[in-house]
Amino acid sequence: MKLYSELAEWWPLMSPHTEYEEEAGLYLEIIRRYHPNVKSAVEFGSGGGSNAYYLKQHFPMTLTDLSPEMLKVSRGLNPDCAHIEGDMRSLDLEKKFDLVFIHDAIMHFTDKGDLLQIMYNAKKHLNDDGILLVVPDQFKETFQTTTNHGGIDQGRRGMRYLEWTYDNDPDDNRTEAEYIYVMRDGQGQVFREFDHDESGLFSMPEWEGLLEQAGFKAMFERIDYKELEGTYFAVVAIPL
Ligand SMILES: C[S@@+](CC[C@H](N)C(=O)[O-])C[C@H]1O[C@@H](n2cnc3c(N)ncnc32)[C@H](O)[C@@H]1O
Repeated sequence: MKLYSELAEWWPLMSPHTEYEEEAGLYLEIIRRYHPNVKSAVEFGSGGGSNAYYLKQHFPMTLTDLSPEMLKVSRGLNPDCAHIEGDMRSLDLEKKFDLVFIHDAIMHFTDKGDLLQIMYNAKKHLNDDGILLVVPDQFKETFQTTTNHGGIDQGRRGMRYLEWTYDNDPDDNRTEAEYIYVMRDGQGQVFREFDHDESGLFSMPEWEGLLEQAGFKAMFERIDYKELEGTYFAVVAIPL
């Protein structure tokens, strides 16, 4: 997506980290329930580092992402965290952690083989009593067509976006999303960009089966976001 490359510098105006405080608190509750004593954590696909900004207040976090531009944004917000560029399917940090956290970045995968590779890689990075927390935006059972909009101003600069997520073919493992971005730069110049994205759409039994294949037992935890309509679950995976 343009948003993670040439438009990455606009990310903090499109999705400011302050909007992540509630969800990071909900994830922390789940993490504590399954592992009360996390001492080290890594995030795969940490993007702008917004959840990490809150989670790192409870344990040190290593942040990894495929996009150097997004890592740059996150370094600005989280200068105290290690940042490493890499693909979550193959990244090798040569280190183990109590927690592997994968948030919405998991949605970029529409192929079960890729998901399986990520799960194996997460397992490789976990201590024996560690946990994997994955937070997919959607499951086959919960998917609804959605429209979102948002964005903020910062001085003269500002950004607004419209996002429309739909499912073109209910028989495949993906949904489609269209984005319109409108940006105003420091000189008051306004410009517009379009983006398109595809996200994975798998059923809960499919998640469970893949995780079992990778050597995990999966548990689904309901998440009630105050401001979001719809039904959401996180997946906690414990090495078998
Ligand atoms: C929406 S952002 C993540 C936001 C983050 N969860 C947060 O709390 O701020 C999604 C990120 O996934 C990253 N990504 C996509 N494919 C990836 C891959 N194969 N490996 C690692 N990161 C990837 C993108 O570069 C992007 O930065």
